[in-house]
Amino acid sequence: MTRVLSCIQPTGEVHLGNYLGALRVWVEGQHTKDAFHGIVDLHALTVTEVPDTVGNATLELAAMLFAIGLDPNVATVFVQSHVTEHSQLGWMMECTVSFGELSRMTQFKDKSAKREAEFVSAGLFTYPALQAADILLYDTDEVPVGEDQRQHVEITRDIALRFNHRFGDTFIVPKAVTPKAGARVMDLQDPTSKMSKTAGSDAGLVNMLDEPAEIVKKFKRAITDSDSEVRFDRANKPGITNLLEILAACTGETPDALATRYTQYGPLKADAGEAVVELLRPIQARYHELMADRSELQSLLRTGAAKARAVAAATLARAQAAVGMLPA
Ligand code: TRP
Repeated sequence: MTRVLSCIQPTGEVHLGNYLGALRVWVEGQHTKDAFHGIVDLHALTVTEVPDTVGNATLELAAMLFAIGLDPNVATVFVQSHVTEHSQLGWMMECTVSFGELSRMTQFKDKSAKREAEFVSAGLFTYPALQAADILLYDTDEVPVGEDQRQHVEITRDIALRFNHRFGDTFIVPKAVTPKAGARVMDLQDPTSKMSKTAGSDAGLVNMLDEPAEIVKKFKRAITDSDSEVRFDRANKPGITNLLEILAACTGETPDALATRYTQYGPLKADAGEAVVELLRPIQARYHELMADRSELQSLLRTGAAKARAVAAATLARAQAAVGMLPA
């Protein structure tokens, strides 16, 4: 079975755009591929400066991943720092990538520029080496990624090929794949931008844990387009198109078919809001149930870590043996 790995950083709440755009596809994919899903807390450390945040964020994200339907008996869901092989192979990867290669990473250039006067950790710079370790540890065949992560998979391939060339065949060389497209969810207040937690206001952002009344209100206040025709047309009617896309993602119908049923904006907003409330209702219930039983949640994560460690430990041992390190 094809092994796939997708990882997510525990930095802030999951929102509807994350879910409909990406996470729901993970849930659908878990039965057709051998899926590994890491909550990459070590990556979050590159920008963590406040105590007692990363652990809670990790637990909350884990609860959300299980709540949306990742099945710990099917997929391997684990916390990166629970599998210490990530740090260990990460160092070996740092020694297999050059300063020049890391300097060319556009995400580093963007992120370090955005942080301006803030602290830019060396971890932010070496992060692709850790990501390479994440991927190579699991003999990953495919890494489903968006455009922003393609370069990191490319550098992982370069690192794997270099290591294999230097020390003999050790790693499977992974490839980046385009994930099955989820819904493209835009900001409700600025439907030309993707829904994102970095947007200026929260009014256009639906968090997975928002209260029903709040969700309905956000949809009611969604920005729509100047004329009053309901049709699916991303270029000219981004607001209405976004509502149709979200409603379609909730009901399983096509946006075009839905468009024929509305002649006014008001009912479309109300129905989209209601559909999202209903979609999230069981997820929220399951989330709160899991969060109320932390020991159960931690036990699910221990199961995931054990499954992950079994694979990761064998790969690390192979890499160390290939280099010819002295066994402990
Ligand atoms: N860098 C990815 C992001 O910011 C997260 C990530 C870390 C990742 N390790 C990975 C993604 C391994 C895929 C595979 O989104």
